[in-house]
Amino acid sequence: MQQPIRIAPSILSADFANLGEEVRAIDRAGADYIHIDVMDGHFVPNITIGSGVTKALRPHSEKVFDVHLMIAPVDPFIEDFAKAGADIITVHVEATPHVHRTIQLIKSLGKKAGISLNPSTPVSAVDYLLGELDLVLVMSVNPGFGGQSFIESQLDKVAELRRRIDDSGRTIDLEIDGGINFDTAPRAIAAGADVLVAGTATFTGGPDAYEANIRRLRG
Ligand code: DX5
Ligand code: ZN
Repeated sequence: MQQPIRIAPSILSADFANLGEEVRAIDRAGADYIHIDVMDGHFVPNITIGSGVTKALRPHSEKVFDVHLMIAPVDPFIEDFAKAGADIITVHVEATPHVHRTIQLIKSLGKKAGISLNPSTPVSAVDYLLGELDLVLVMSVNPGFGGQSFIESQLDKVAELRRRIDDSGRTIDLEIDGGINFDTAPRAIAAGADVLVAGTATFTGGPDAYEANIRRLRG
């Protein structure tokens, strides 16, 4: 069943020179999850932040830290992010050959486990994993950068995942990430998403605009 809509601002679009205050600002503005995009310049063509910054941000908000790992290999770094204060750890199915093992590792550390699918990855990639997962993340851009255009075909993927999650009878977040704005957000929700990641759309206009941006994304 589709859960209440939650908004997960991606701090990739925040002022990196002022990250603590930015996290406090989106927390006050009504963010549900704090979405932390971790990139390695190998799995994706960009380098962002790591577990050290994640740990430094932890005291700035009690909201859910939703850590999106776009790194390969990923297993050697899971424990660092768990200790840094991640609540949900999401890995890419394309980034690790033994994704079932990776999920068990995340859960063994007491964290919620998510799997992310790149735009070209079929829904069947989660067929034998849904029974283990707390979150499925559909990438609606090719991961690597904020501010890219929404890939329309991913709405069908969200709809198909909605059916499979509902059939599973489990409570699993269905999150969408990339190109979410005031136009695409309602369409992603209609397709069945219940967690919306939004970088550009949250942070446009500066701190005075965050609350209105988040409210409008929620629909
Ligand atoms: C892309 C990241 C996204 C991205 C979203 O690789 O995973 O979280 O920052 O940015 P917007 O909302 O600007 O498309
Ligand atoms: Zn992300």
